[in-house]
Amino acid sequence: MKVATHHLRCTECGAVITGSAVNSIFRCPDCNGLYDVIYPWSSTDNGSSATPGSNLPNASALRWLWQERRTSTLPVDQSGVWRFRDLFPIVEDPANIVTLREGNTPLYDLPQCAKIVGIDSLLAKHQGMNPTGSFKDTGMTAALSVAADRKFEWVACASTGNTSAAMAAYAARAGLRSIVFIPDGKIAWGKLSQSMDYGAFTIQLKTDFDGCVRILTDLVTRFPIYLLNSVNPYRLEGQKTPAFEILEQLDWQVPDHIVVPGGNLANSSALGKGFMEMHRLGLIPRIPKISIIQAEGANPLYRWFIDSNRVMRPVTADTRATAIRIGNPASWRKAANVIDRLGGWCEQVSEQEIALAKAQIGAEGVGCEPASAVTFAGLKKLVAMGKVTREERVVLILTGHTLKDSQYTIDYHRGELFTEAENAQISAEDQARHTALRKPPIVLEPDSDTVLHALESHMKMTQLV
Ligand code: F0G
Repeated sequence: MKVATHHLRCTECGAVITGSAVNSIFRCPDCNGLYDVIYPWSSTDNGSSATPGSNLPNASALRWLWQERRTSTLPVDQSGVWRFRDLFPIVEDPANIVTLREGNTPLYDLPQCAKIVGIDSLLAKHQGMNPTGSFKDTGMTAALSVAADRKFEWVACASTGNTSAAMAAYAARAGLRSIVFIPDGKIAWGKLSQSMDYGAFTIQLKTDFDGCVRILTDLVTRFPIYLLNSVNPYRLEGQKTPAFEILEQLDWQVPDHIVVPGGNLANSSALGKGFMEMHRLGLIPRIPKISIIQAEGANPLYRWFIDSNRVMRPVTADTRATAIRIGNPASWRKAANVIDRLGGWCEQVSEQEIALAKAQIGAEGVGCEPASAVTFAGLKKLVAMGKVTREERVVLILTGHTLKDSQYTIDYHRGELFTEAENAQISAEDQARHTALRKPPIVLEPDSDTVLHALESHMKMTQLV
């Protein structure tokens, strides 16, 4: 792998620089735009398929090689990210690759959810099954390896909890020191505990995620810290690899529609980049649509999408899906491009809709964190609007593990998640759905007769006898 095989291109003004020439905030000095990592196969701009020339990787050879690596015992081959390293040559010295064997996540079918939403089948790519419990690991292994390759000692990120967990873990593996900025309050405790467990210097700032980003952006210009937020384009190189995995798992049959949660809006664009690159290399004949779903209380992209002037206005964010509690998303333009180029959609969903969707995914034995459940809640709307038809093959990207935010789940099942006013907004039909899904724990005396009695009445209530 040679650094010289990639460049960075500003997504706003098109300026191209070498990877090592980028500044500490990963923004173009001329126009403040974000960068994309580009390769010889990134050269076409219109999404059309390039004719693979002699200097481009050969599609069938790649498929064969990726399959072959599955039987290897080398850590880089066992990683479901680095197995695809041919399509992101970003590290000079392979010895600097930091891997926790990320990726290789399951593609589950969700037959009950498909039935609920009225489509023939539904798949979920569960990125919560990564080593630290979220999709962030796929991006962190890539960008942190670049940090190690470029001999940084300190790495840092601002986070709603998952990026920080991933960064802390990978930094610890690499022997780098990490600084985490998270909002004081309104993040899930499990995520906070991870960054402590993995030894990060954890700072809770008395502000929200957007405020944490502001402070960190200033700090990296004053101290030699490698910034690992998703403005760092190398993160996206790892985060594009689930697109490759999905295709492998579907035996190279292209799905019709991918549904992704939207927060800081990097992941949707990373997946879009992955699909577009596969298309240009002739690995797939067409590209799926990518739709992005936001929480109503943190919906700047949705507002942009429905605005006839297409203006992006930051919002003050608030949602119980704390992972996506972001009002001023850094990568919004990249995500907007993906929607526009691939013909996807943007939707918003309410707190009540998120909770119902999460419980329905949980009831299939899969489970996910609230931010991931927006995908299923959003899919219901896309189907109702006719944007997704019955026979289309849809893949939801579940971004975080259900244990990431167990307090949310407990509050939901105990009926303590919503305020009275919020409960009053739920339709009678949905109230009945919630009631059927809620499984609050009951406390009993340690007496067999009492337990048997409780079991009998439970069976009667759930009509199993
Ligand atoms: N789902 C989960 C579980 C997340 O943690 C995030 C983002 C997203 C979805 C949204 O992805 O930002 O690429 O649009 N979490 C970041 C963090 C912001 O700090 O962990 P996005």
